[in-house]
Amino acid sequence: MRSLTGLQPSGKLHLGNYFGAMRPAVELQEEGEGFYFIADYHAMTSTHDPEELRRNVRELAVDFLACGLDPKKSVFWRQSDVPEVNELTWILSTVCPMGLLERCHSYKDKIARGAAATHALFAYPVLMAADILLYDSDVVPVGDDQKQHLEVTRDLAIKMNERYGEGTLKLPEPRIREAVAKVPGLDGQKMSKTYNNALPIFGDEKALRKLVMRIVTDSTPVEAPKPVEGSVILDLHRLLANPEKHAAMEAGFRAGGIGYGEFKKWLWEAYWEYFAPMRERRAEVLADPGYVDRVLEAGAARAREEASGVLKRVRKAVGLA
Ligand code: ADP
Ligand code: TRP
Repeated sequence: MRSLTGLQPSGKLHLGNYFGAMRPAVELQEEGEGFYFIADYHAMTSTHDPEELRRNVRELAVDFLACGLDPKKSVFWRQSDVPEVNELTWILSTVCPMGLLERCHSYKDKIARGAAATHALFAYPVLMAADILLYDSDVVPVGDDQKQHLEVTRDLAIKMNERYGEGTLKLPEPRIREAVAKVPGLDGQKMSKTYNNALPIFGDEKALRKLVMRIVTDSTPVEAPKPVEGSVILDLHRLLANPEKHAAMEAGFRAGGIGYGEFKKWLWEAYWEYFAPMRERRAEVLADPGYVDRVLEAGAARAREEASGVLKRVRKAVGLA
């Protein structure tokens, strides 16, 4: 079984990215073959400074390796090192109805938030479909927000197979983990770098602690029991703490007598402890200056091998070869 996912290099990684995309990816490398890439073509829809793009790619590579991506088990590469994906994008776009893209929420959301309405942003789901289909992927671990893009991917694969014959492209399955489908941010909305409500995975201890203390709570007095439904503190703590500690926090919420400030301290401790091994691994990765480049280069060679096989099959099916 081959699992594939892409992450956009667009700023600091946060808990939403970790639980929604990275951890599932890291777990899946134990079940089968992991194919993971840094989506730099995609990032060009929002990052226009070349130095910033390069820096973000590098940071994401370091962070992904620190979070457990194992290049001995998985193929890890930079999207633009396999330009074959652009040819498949074009081929897919010839079966892609405009209406399918017009219905995509993520395009409309990004425009509503002030992004420029470029063709690239509009056609983004076709490139994403090519990312997935170019490698005959079986499963794609992503968060809730990418569900619609996976439906587009499946639709395009079905249309290709209808037009050019069964087996032209392989249909992938989404792997959306409901428990972590939507990690909440400091304000209770979905955690996202664009909402300024994110808790990063890596950062300065003091600064991260301050962020935890900023989590928005209601005005329940210290002595009173606290509502457990929809509490950001509890929802994040559930992801970060061991089950006993989490049960203790939940009991504390129900009993009353403990203030939110205290619960935030517990959450902070769980958060800092959870990422301790990743911080250690990150320091190791950074200590070897050539390591990241070697990993990405070997990954690109392996990914390209796979991509050219699939592309050859598709080119033949459509009449290009
Ligand atoms: P952001 O919303 O911060 O821009 P991205 O859109 O770059 O994050 O998401 C990268 C990956 O992380 C995607 O697979 C996405 O589904 C996942 N992800 C992002 N935010 C969350 C969240 N709050 N909860 C669960 N998964 C998330
Ligand atoms: N669109 C995804 C995001 O914004 C990133 C991505 C690009 C991706 N290509 C992919 C995810 C292929 C999974 C599979 O997060």
